[in-house]
Amino acid sequence: MGHTLTSAGLQGIFVECVSSTYNETDMLSASALAHCAYNQDNMIPDDQRGYDLNMFCVPMHYENDLESVLIPSGVIQDRIERLARDIFNDIDGQPLVALCVLKGGYKFFSDLIEKIQILCRNSHKTLPISIDFIRLKSYVDDKSGDIQVIGGDNLSSLTGKNVLIVEDIIDTGNTMLKLLNLLEQSQPKLIKVASLLVKRTPLSVGYKPDYTGFEIPDKFVVGYALDYNEYFRDLGHVCVINEAGKKKYAVQK
Ligand code: HPA
Ligand code: MG
Repeated sequence: MGHTLTSAGLQGIFVECVSSTYNETDMLSASALAHCAYNQDNMIPDDQRGYDLNMFCVPMHYENDLESVLIPSGVIQDRIERLARDIFNDIDGQPLVALCVLKGGYKFFSDLIEKIQILCRNSHKTLPISIDFIRLKSYVDDKSGDIQVIGGDNLSSLTGKNVLIVEDIIDTGNTMLKLLNLLEQSQPKLIKVASLLVKRTPLSVGYKPDYTGFEIPDKFVVGYALDYNEYFRDLGHVCVINEAGKKKYAVQK
């Protein structure tokens, strides 16, 4: 679990960053704070409160169910643009099967593939892409249960192929390990994993994807196709659900 930072460790990084800025300028500007918040690569620290809901547009039907906007949709798009470039450069023209993990991965998948296509048509390099879908389910309320594969094409078509798994979030990592195990039985040539979010949780099995959009605090997030019992997929930003929202949309009352 080498990658798992404790919240105390994270706080240390944040405090150190803030205090050095403070000494230099005697004034902590908003831009310095914003910079500090993201200066650990793609890591959103535990003590980042997120943005007030009033700063952005959220559907009225979810207004009372959210604590904050953690990642605004524009920032998500900008980050995906960079992930697309990294993948495009790394994979080097070999045909790729992009495998979308439904349902939560569909928006990330669609935006990522689109951005890779834009790179393809604006450069002399090429990356032929075919697409496939698999459906997994493991969460009821905010608790992980048994992981079920409940859809997807015949995985034997992946034999000898370069596969990019596109997932919305890696939480404990158990789901991804199970999926990797399943796919390896089809003997693809190469498997890479891109996940928009990776959660810092003490329950992590230590799995890290090849491409990560943002590393986030141990909170239940929704929006941008991530759900809570099938709600909130129709929310553009990645937001933190509040206790009222968890209660309102709970399956297990
Ligand atoms: N939100 C939505 N789905 C999830 C999460 C989360 O925080 N963790 C695992 N699946
Ligand atoms: Mg998922």
